[in-house]
Amino acid sequence: MNMDYVAKLEAATGLKFDPAKLPRHIAIVMDGNGRWAKQRGQKRSSGHRAGVEALEDVVIACRNLGVGYLTVYAFSTENWSRPAAEVSTLMSLLSEFAASKLKRLRDNQVEVRVLGDFAGLPVLQRAALNRLMSATANVRTPDEGLVLNLALNYGGRSEILAGLKRAAAELSPRELQEMTEERFGGFLATAGQPDPDLLIRTSGELRLSNFLLWQLAYAEFYFTEILWPDFDAVELFRAICAYQQRNRRFGALLSE
Ligand code: IPE
Ligand code: IPE
Ligand code: MG
Repeated sequence: MNMDYVAKLEAATGLKFDPAKLPRHIAIVMDGNGRWAKQRGQKRSSGHRAGVEALEDVVIACRNLGVGYLTVYAFSTENWSRPAAEVSTLMSLLSEFAASKLKRLRDNQVEVRVLGDFAGLPVLQRAALNRLMSATANVRTPDEGLVLNLALNYGGRSEILAGLKRAAAELSPRELQEMTEERFGGFLATAGQPDPDLLIRTSGELRLSNFLLWQLAYAEFYFTEILWPDFDAVELFRAICAYQQRNRRFGALLSE
C-alpha cells in the first residue's frame, strides 16, 4: 500500500481510510458508457473508448491501494444482442486494450485473466488476450501485484452450469454427493481467488445483470450515479471508504 497515495486521496475527499479494512477483492459492473456519450452529443463508441481509460485508472489505483483482486464486467453474454456495429466496436476496443496496455499492466505487476466463454470470442480478440495473459502470467510476487479478471462473454448462471458439468465429468458419484461449497468454488472461473468483498455498479442501475452470482453471496454492494467513464481513483476511494463503514455480520451478531 502506497501511503502517500492514500494521504492524497484522503485530502481530496475529506474521508478517512482504514488500512486494516482493505477489501481483498473488488468487483465492478462498469456501466453507463452509452449515457455518458449521449450527454455529450457523441456516439456510444466514444463512451466505450473513455470507459477503457477509466478502467486503466482504476487498475492503477487498485495497485497503489494494495487491492489483490479486481474483477470487471466488460462484456456479458447478453451484450451480443446489441447492434452488430456496437458489438464490433467493443471487440475492437478489447483487442486494442490488450495490445496497448500490455506493457503498463506488466510493469505494474498486474496479472490478467479472463472469466467467461473464451472460445466464443472472435479469433483476433482471443489472440490479443492470449498475448496479454501470457505476458502478465508471472508478474506478481507473494506481496505485490494485482489479479485483473476481465469478465468477457461472461454470464453468472452459465459459469455455474459449466462448473457443474466439469465437476460431473471429473468427480466420482460419491465425491459429487459429498460436494461442499468450498470445493464447488474450485470449479468456477475464479477458482483459488477470494470472493469479492465489495461490488461496485456505476450509472445508477440497481441490479446484478448476471454477474458473479455465486461469488457475490456476501459482498457489500455500492451503487453510484457516476457514469463509468467518469469513475476514477477518487470515486474508487469513496467506495472503499463507504465499504469500511459497513458492519459485515455474515449472519452472526456483532461483538462490538
Ligand atoms: C457499459 O456501458 C459497457 C458495456 C455494457 C459493454 P453501456 O454500454 O451499458 O452504457 P449504457 O448503460 O447504455 O449507458
Ligand atoms: C452489464 O451492463 C454488463 C456490463 C457492464 C458489461 P448492461 O448495461 O449490459 O446491463 P443491463 O442491460 O443494464 O442489465
Ligand atoms: Mg448499460
